[in-house]
Amino acid sequence: MPRARILVVDDEKNILTSLSRALRVEDFEVDVAGSAALALEKLQKKTYDAAILDVMMPGMDGLELLKAIRAEGKHMPVLVMSGHGSIETAVEATRLGAHDFLEKPIGTERLLLSLERCLDFRRLEVENEELRKRTGALEELIGESEAMRRLRERIQLAASAKAAVLITGERGTGKELVARAIHRASARVDQPLEKLNCAAVPSELIESELFGHEAGAFTGATKQRLGKFERAHRGTLFLDEIGDMPLPMQAKLLRVLQEGEIERVGGSGVIPVDVRVVSATNRDLQEAIELGEFRADLYDRLNVLPIRVPPLRERREDIPTLAERFLELACIANDRPRKAFGKGALELLSAYDFPGNVRELKNLVERLVILSPGETITEADARALLPIARASVSAGVYRPGVPLRELMDEVEREIILRALDHHGGNVTQTATDLDLERSHLYKKMRALDIKR
Ligand SMILES: Nc1ncnc2c1ncn2[C@@H]1O[C@H](COP(=O)(O)OP(=O)(O)OP(=O)(O)O)[C@@H](O)[C@H]1O
Ligand SMILES: [Mg+2]
Repeated sequence: MPRARILVVDDEKNILTSLSRALRVEDFEVDVAGSAALALEKLQKKTYDAAILDVMMPGMDGLELLKAIRAEGKHMPVLVMSGHGSIETAVEATRLGAHDFLEKPIGTERLLLSLERCLDFRRLEVENEELRKRTGALEELIGESEAMRRLRERIQLAASAKAAVLITGERGTGKELVARAIHRASARVDQPLEKLNCAAVPSELIESELFGHEAGAFTGATKQRLGKFERAHRGTLFLDEIGDMPLPMQAKLLRVLQEGEIERVGGSGVIPVDVRVVSATNRDLQEAIELGEFRADLYDRLNVLPIRVPPLRERREDIPTLAERFLELACIANDRPRKAFGKGALELLSAYDFPGNVRELKNLVERLVILSPGETITEADARALLPIARASVSAGVYRPGVPLRELMDEVEREIILRALDHHGGNVTQTATDLDLERSHLYKKMRALDIKR
């Protein structure tokens, strides 16, 4: 397969011969035309990845030819060459959409460099166009593992119903993507999807965010404002980080969900709303209920259709697919030529636990794109960025004269701290992970002086 197909246009036969020879040596497929008219004929019949045009030609000249090419909506890169390199011609050529201007006599190296550069540029342009076309699809959930297949099934099922959905999963697993997918797959797709991040809004403002307010309802409320519920009418309301909703608001939300009507802050009278509620959290709500931080009755209301988004380490098969896609996106976003993973690199990534899940993988790949020097991301590149413990835990622990018991305590303490960190401080999950009774873990934490 030739690297690219190039059209060379010049009225001087020896130039056509020398240029096409130089290009063919470099594995390009080359067609030549001795005039602009012949060139236009060829352009009708074939598509070219790039064209090299002489300016001075009898009949139609190179700049007019360039104009004609662009007028036909052809976007391939064009290099313009001229024996009389005047600034004006170069400027005019660029204005007409030439990618580069070469002065005769043309050095092979300079020509190849310029050609490679604009072919690369065009490739990126094409990829960007495709990407833009797919922006919708961009948000799509990637992954063909059994766990992802089941997740898609759950999403379809949820989309076909109106009941409240509660999405749970560790941080960065894709809960928001799932919420959006449910909305998009539902009959409400043409109606609004509104989102409220309960952790990001100060607690005293949540009520007005959700239910809106009348002018003068409180200091600063100069105008009437619609809340998320009213805006999401007939659509979907996504309540993110629901575990962080303050208790008094939980009571109000529960009432709205029961009655199907809201009351604006400072308003008199109720407004019926038809809203599908999807909420998400990475907190263990059962634990929050035990701690008295979340209402059990609200939980039941929100959790009609539970969807659990599995952590990445439970579906490692998806890591290569995700990594490849993130690599593609990161190269384009950072203006880097397309890179590829060396084999060891993907294996290394697949073995890593990703406590930050898909988001961590995405960020890691982006860093690899920016920091790795070559076109191939090697295993060493990846290893350098992975926060995997580089030495075994026990290495370096031994110190002469210190009792084994004390050394063991150090190691145990280190392991428990790491595990807690891994689970975002969640003791229940940490205990399950380490296969300990929760009470036993608590006891150990106290003994090793680990504070929550
Ligand atoms: N299956 C997937 N396919 C493609 N991209 C994904 C997938 N899952 C997650 N992502 C990407 O990973 C990032 C994190 O996803 P998202 O924000 O949905 O996670 P989250 O579970 O809501 O995290 P948090 O709990 O921190 O809010 C986003 O950039 C998202 O596009
Ligand atoms: Mg989120």
